[in-house]
Amino acid sequence: MADDRAGAILVAGAAGFIGPMVLRVLLRETDRRIVVLDKLTYAGRRDNVTRAPERTEDAQRVTFVQGDICDLAVQGLLEAYGVTWLVNLAAESHVDRSLGAAPDFLRTEMQGTLNLLEAVRATPAVTKFVAVGTDEVYGSIDRNAGYEGERWYALAREQSDLRAVVREHLFREGAPLRPGSPYAATKAGADLLVHAFVNSYRRRDGSPMPCVVTRGTNNYGPFQHPEKLLPLAICTLLRPDVGKAGRRRVPIYDDGLAVREWLHTEDHAYGILRALQSADAGATVNFGSGVRCLNRDLLLAVFREVSARAGTPFASLAEASFPAARAGHDLCYGADCSAARTDLGWEPRHTDLDREIGCLVQWYIDNLDWWMPVWESADFDAYWESKYAARMADAGNAPYLFYDEAATDRSLAQALV
Ligand code: NAD
Ligand code: TYD
Repeated sequence: MADDRAGAILVAGAAGFIGPMVLRVLLRETDRRIVVLDKLTYAGRRDNVTRAPERTEDAQRVTFVQGDICDLAVQGLLEAYGVTWLVNLAAESHVDRSLGAAPDFLRTEMQGTLNLLEAVRATPAVTKFVAVGTDEVYGSIDRNAGYEGERWYALAREQSDLRAVVREHLFREGAPLRPGSPYAATKAGADLLVHAFVNSYRRRDGSPMPCVVTRGTNNYGPFQHPEKLLPLAICTLLRPDVGKAGRRRVPIYDDGLAVREWLHTEDHAYGILRALQSADAGATVNFGSGVRCLNRDLLLAVFREVSARAGTPFASLAEASFPAARAGHDLCYGADCSAARTDLGWEPRHTDLDREIGCLVQWYIDNLDWWMPVWESADFDAYWESKYAARMADAGNAPYLFYDEAATDRSLAQALV
């Protein structure tokens, strides 16, 4: 497909976590103007956009517009800036929050996507709309594979069987959607709207609406809000003395026996670029790294790296707490990404998770000025108290059952699922 260079790219929701890396890659790989549209919720920050460009001269190509994808006249924006490519990252993105605020998720994920679709439909100049989705819409492999509850825990402790079961049940793009949280359900709704528009409407020239759904697995990288597992653990370990109760601990659900597939935001951003460049209208594409592990092993790597890099005298599970898990905790995600490879020529590059966790920890050490104001804010304290304080108190100092001290020295590469 020709790269219609004259057109601008509108990236909605680029002031959050994945957005800055998407901006960085789009600036690096194209010479287009980029318009960021972001509401700046608690998860969005103007300075994430400012920090995104690698070269100072690239900053001139970025325009920031504060606005809500749900109620803004997006069509006017597309026309005013001559937008030909649109990427939607705007979302409420935290599963734990979705359990108490489903209407907010419904609004941004579904009403917002619908509003963008209507704008694309009314703007023939737009030649590609990439709706960034998640593999969480497929649901959890434990449920799909018939390994629920105790059967899962038994399997997770037996790592070799676990690997075989997970690999056999990886989700492909055509798998039925069985979302397990309000977040995942509203993301699934958004995906369905995109496909419904491709099916229902055509351009004047008879071509289908140029819309694509991507489904990334769990992302990691710089700029992630400390409510999510990896930064939550890193920030807790770097600043254990913060919090109303005098200290915070790393909250580990289900004894760390859940599996996630970890995709670096830079690889995800290149996937989104490839989708803009060459995915077919109506396509759905998974993006994952193939790097899957138990949360337990991931967190042990975090403990190790923080100890080594910050010189803190722990690397101990005494820094953890084992509260009751979030309701409906999905115990295993994993995606088959062969379509991204064969159809888009995409390949993840950040696959050495031991090394990547080290880099991530180092980023949080080097960027205290970025996360500390959030970590120590009254809003985050209130969030932490409401989500964790009571559950941790109920758990007491519950013993950790499935942590093998011998495993604390094991590399993540040895623990991959
Ligand atoms: P994030 O929560 O860090 O950032 C979301 C951004 O959207 C913020 O800047 C926020 O201000 C903005 N926003 C929220 N509601 C808005 C609205 N109504 N109008 C305009 N802007 C709004 O999220 P993220 O982790 O960067 O995720 C980006 C996208 O990628 C989401 O669609 C998410 O579902 C998807 N995704 C995330 C992951 C992950 O691991 N983080 C994995 C796969 C897919
Ligand atoms: P999270 O970063 O919230 O991503 P998602 O739920 O979208 O996958 O959580 C990643 C994993 O970490 C998931 O299995 C839930 C678990 N988790 C904890 O054990 N403790 C926590 O405090 C959080 C936020 C997550």
